[in-house]
Amino acid sequence: MNRASFLQNTALAGAAVLLSSLEGFAKENNKIIRVAIIGCGSVSNRYIPHLQTSSLVKIVGLCDIIHERALEQNKQYKVGAITFASIEDLLTGVEFDLMLTLTDMQMHGALNRKAILAGKNVWSEKPLANTYQEGVALVELAKQKGVRIWGAPAVVTSPQFEFMSQTIQSGKLGKLASAHGQYGHTGPTWSSFFYEPLGGSMPDLGVYNMATLTGLLGPAKSVMAMTSIVNKQREIDHKGRVEVKEEDNAHILLEHENGIISHIMCGFNYFDPFGHEAKNQTLHSIQIFGDKGNMRLIGYDWEPKSVVLDTSWTHPPETHVTEDKGYQWQEGATRIATSLSTKIEPKIHVLHSLHVLEIIEAARKSSKEGVKVQLSSAFPWPMV
Ligand SMILES: NC(=O)c1ccc[n+]([C@@H]2O[C@H](COP(=O)([O-])OP(=O)(O)OC[C@H]3O[C@@H](n4cnc5c(N)ncnc54)[C@H](O)[C@@H]3O)[C@@H](O)[C@H]2O)c1
Repeated sequence: MNRASFLQNTALAGAAVLLSSLEGFAKENNKIIRVAIIGCGSVSNRYIPHLQTSSLVKIVGLCDIIHERALEQNKQYKVGAITFASIEDLLTGVEFDLMLTLTDMQMHGALNRKAILAGKNVWSEKPLANTYQEGVALVELAKQKGVRIWGAPAVVTSPQFEFMSQTIQSGKLGKLASAHGQYGHTGPTWSSFFYEPLGGSMPDLGVYNMATLTGLLGPAKSVMAMTSIVNKQREIDHKGRVEVKEEDNAHILLEHENGIISHIMCGFNYFDPFGHEAKNQTLHSIQIFGDKGNMRLIGYDWEPKSVVLDTSWTHPPETHVTEDKGYQWQEGATRIATSLSTKIEPKIHVLHSLHVLEIIEAARKSSKEGVKVQLSSAFPWPMV
């Protein structure tokens, strides 16, 4: 069954219907989507050039509470946008279709709400809201306002994810049992919000593996986790020493359907000579085990290099999908703008983002209270 017919034929199709139709957005196909970016820090250096590769996108607004950053990015990338220092001025100062939220994580929920209330579509860096309930409310509000919200990451759009998902769906791995995902480095130094309440290594790093493993194995039913703070203080550029208030080390167990259990570890204390650059990373960061085969993703799931598939007692493992086929981790917003323009639903699904948000919250509760936490959310699956 392909993805479209799955959506039409399952109970979760109801969830998809809860979202506004893309038909309403562009009067004609291939309309240019006017984009406004809020938050002109580190990650905007990846988003802006990628958006500029699309003929369907025009960046019309740049906003940062540190206004010089908006001015600087406007100049550096020759954007030609109007610049602002507050979301209020952005929302009233320029006409646009899609807001990209690239600010400190703690601001996402409130900023996304303001944009939706003003009738704007939103692509949000992770997390798309600061609590699961806030996320649910945002999706509902978006429906009422006739707009849409989507959240990073874009891992489900990589060709390696597609290959892994199709391999699982084909039954080649037999009965699935276990999976593992991991992502860590020694932590960002350029901003303190990563270490403040509602920051942490799960919404910053673990979120990628959570999206990949639930995307491959299906929604999780329950969560058990242990989280900790290993480094109590951090040195932040231009700021000095800050207290670490949110987990910088986490192990999360997810229970999926049919007895499948997956495990994720993430943290800000993982020595890695490649640092934040995943280019030469050879780690098997995602591993999936069934009784007829196993699969290992080489590199990180957000910048995958290939997939090693082992299904034979006699033949050596095979390496698949060594090309990126144009996929880049920062492509999410460009993909969403393309979807708004062409009216073709993207693979990235907001209910998947909400599920990951619920997992993060449940993991914190599990670790704090020493309990297994049941989850209530789900999303249309399989995704590919
Ligand atoms: N930096 C990366 O490589 C990277 C990669 C993937 C995802 N992300 C995600 O992107 C988001 C931003 O991360 P970053 O590393 O770019 O952080 P950053 O600190 O470099 O940039 C954040 C910017 O947002 C601005 N800002 C904060 N509150 C604002 C508000 N209310 N209105 C307008 N501007 C505001 C800040 O002044 C700052 O310039 C986070 O969610 C992070 O998890 C970052």
